[in-house]
Amino acid sequence: MDLPAQQSPLHTELESVLQQINLGVVLLDRDCRVMYWNDFMSINSGRSAAEVVGQSLFDLFPELPRLWVKKKIDSVFTLQNLAFTSWQQRPHLFDFSDSRPITGQVAAMYQNCTFFPVVETSGAIKYVCLTVADATETAAQHLELARLNELLQAEKEEQARLIRKLEEAQAQLLQSEKMAAIGQLAAGVAHEINNPVGYVNSNFASLESYVKDLFSLIEAYNRDLPSLQDAAFRARIEQANRELDYEFLRSDIFDLIRESREGLERVKRIVQDLRDFSHVDSADWQVVDLHKGLDSTLNVVWNEVKFKAEVVKQYGELPDVECIGSQLNQVFMNLIVNAAHAIPNRGTIWLETGTRDDWVFVRVRDDGCGIPPENLKRLFEPFFTTKPVGSGTGLGLSVSYNIVSKHHGRIEVESEPGKGTAFTVWLPARQPQEDR
Ligand SMILES: Nc1ncnc2c1ncn2[C@@H]1O[C@H](COP(=O)(O)OP(=O)(O)OP(=O)(O)O)[C@@H](O)[C@H]1O
Ligand SMILES: [Mg+2]
Repeated sequence: MDLPAQQSPLHTELESVLQQINLGVVLLDRDCRVMYWNDFMSINSGRSAAEVVGQSLFDLFPELPRLWVKKKIDSVFTLQNLAFTSWQQRPHLFDFSDSRPITGQVAAMYQNCTFFPVVETSGAIKYVCLTVADATETAAQHLELARLNELLQAEKEEQARLIRKLEEAQAQLLQSEKMAAIGQLAAGVAHEINNPVGYVNSNFASLESYVKDLFSLIEAYNRDLPSLQDAAFRARIEQANRELDYEFLRSDIFDLIRESREGLERVKRIVQDLRDFSHVDSADWQVVDLHKGLDSTLNVVWNEVKFKAEVVKQYGELPDVECIGSQLNQVFMNLIVNAAHAIPNRGTIWLETGTRDDWVFVRVRDDGCGIPPENLKRLFEPFFTTKPVGSGTGLGLSVSYNIVSKHHGRIEVESEPGKGTAFTVWLPARQPQEDR
């Protein structure tokens, strides 16, 4: 043992403590030669004190960061200060392996090291004491905590993502429920109007024939008027004819009836459009004529479109398509309204249909403002809108996308900014058997 001699009654005991303490203790001289080496160091390095004492630390452990250690030791000699390094800064100063059988990633011993001066009675620094504490347990706990924290963070992000998805799904659901409610309302109104319109229409037919009969009767009276003997009575009738402007009455009354019947025809058509639009009779899969759906939808949104665009229909031959009609009408409605909104002043909207192989397509094309390329990939995202707050929710296309997907179809977009846009809905004429 090369421990510097110290005169104290506890000298031997203290030396024994130092030797066995669960902490690496090394004394180094100015040239970094090992002067003392306790059991902890022997056990963990596999080299006994006899092997190392008197040798340069760096010769013994070439893996040590020489410059850094040297600087620390020099600074302790020069400044007489204490230097410290923790496992976070330098996890493994000495290449010792982990002392306890912990499973997992921790294989090398994490160390906290201290360098402090050992001062002679004269006050001069004789040695630098280097202590090496095993911090593996703390480090392992710390690292495990960090790992768990990371997991927690990832879980939190995943949860946030799910919440976002849920919100989107809920908004889409609300939108489709809203559309379904509009459909129901339309159907309800159509149904309520349908009855009175029916009997007013049939009454009008009777009314017209009664009025005709009445006029024939009056004509008959008028024909026989000149042969009437009673001149005063004749004069009264003639005056009444003049005062009531009988000739005008006779011609106008039929105009009124004709106009009213035209009006009724229009109401009937609107009612029929509303019924077709909502497809309330059949909210399920059915085989329908898409042209009828397009026409009724166009009529329903006509008020939004008529001031903006001329609508040109270029319908091809279409087979009847298996679909949920009311839902596809929602898609057509959204595409037509979007097209009208895209037209700044006045333009044209083309409704084109056709087939390719087993697929049918419905295209809504406009010569409106077009879509900038950077927006193209975001169109179907829920809440993506370029419209001012309050005028667009940005759900139309995402709901349409879902409806078309449910029909095993797809939506294609072509657009040129400043020129216009075409949305093409491709649908299979028949649905795959198992998904119906
Ligand atoms: N024909 C079109 N021409 C130009 N831009 C379009 C066209 N159709 C859609 N867009 C763009 O796509 C965006 C999203 O359309 P989407 O129908 O999903 O929502 P919205 O029309 O803004 O709102 P709403 O929920 O009322 O339909 C629109 O805001 C618009 O910028
Ligand atoms: Mg829209």
